[in-house]
Amino acid sequence: MKRLVVLTGAGISAESGIATFRDSNGLWEGHDVMAVASPEGWRKNKEVVLDFYNKRREACLKAQPNAAHLQLAELEREFDVTIITQNVDDLHERAGSSHVIHLHGELFKSQSTLDPSLVYQMDHCELNIGDTCEKGAQLRPFIVWFGEQVPMMEAAIAATENAAVFAVIGTSLLVYPAAGLLSYAPRSIPKFVIDIQLPEIARVVNLIKIQDKASSGVAKMIQSLRTMDF
Ligand code: APR
Repeated sequence: MKRLVVLTGAGISAESGIATFRDSNGLWEGHDVMAVASPEGWRKNKEVVLDFYNKRREACLKAQPNAAHLQLAELEREFDVTIITQNVDDLHERAGSSHVIHLHGELFKSQSTLDPSLVYQMDHCELNIGDTCEKGAQLRPFIVWFGEQVPMMEAAIAATENAAVFAVIGTSLLVYPAAGLLSYAPRSIPKFVIDIQLPEIARVVNLIKIQDKASSGVAKMIQSLRTMDF
């Protein structure tokens, strides 16, 4: 099966009712980004950070995968699909996608502040002061904050370099290193970009632009894939 690699951002979950970051009414509007999503913010006020992600988990639990997530999961019948997502929600997994690389962490996991290798699946919405790892240290959200390393980037680059088709869905491509992934896709392969407001992309050839919502945009991409001769 041909390898389809898809980079997704907040726009793919918008139709599920999860706020994007930079659109009007986006998540960062009304939030000081550095207060809730940086190591400095965590040092200054852990409760504010924990509360922010507790609310994100609650919103995520209420949301359902939409047609875009579901169609990408169904594409596994025809393609070897790897999803690289910047999203911390679990909607790709709940839609049935089996290979999901989370570049920016996962909402429903917590991590030890003493030993980063200690990561725990959460079965509830709340992480609070006093919740500790097995070594007795405070747990933090398993989220890659601004200024932190992106450990899954290596796996994402390897997948991208081996793609036969690449797609970018619902991301403003403003945050690096994720935004740089497109440049690792082989020059000759088709690269779809699906967004209601297409991001600027320079120096990338074989771009197929679909200006549309993620759900209908993915349907159009699938139609187009079926006409392609690989
Ligand atoms: N369908 C498709 N695209 C959409 C839709 C939709 N229904 N709604 C919004 N979009 C598009 C917007 O036009 C925009 O290009 O989704 C994109 C969302 O961009 P951002 O809010 O910047 O989100 P994202 O690119 O995922 O942000 C990257 O930045 O804040 C950090 O760590 C956070 O992972 C996040 C990263």
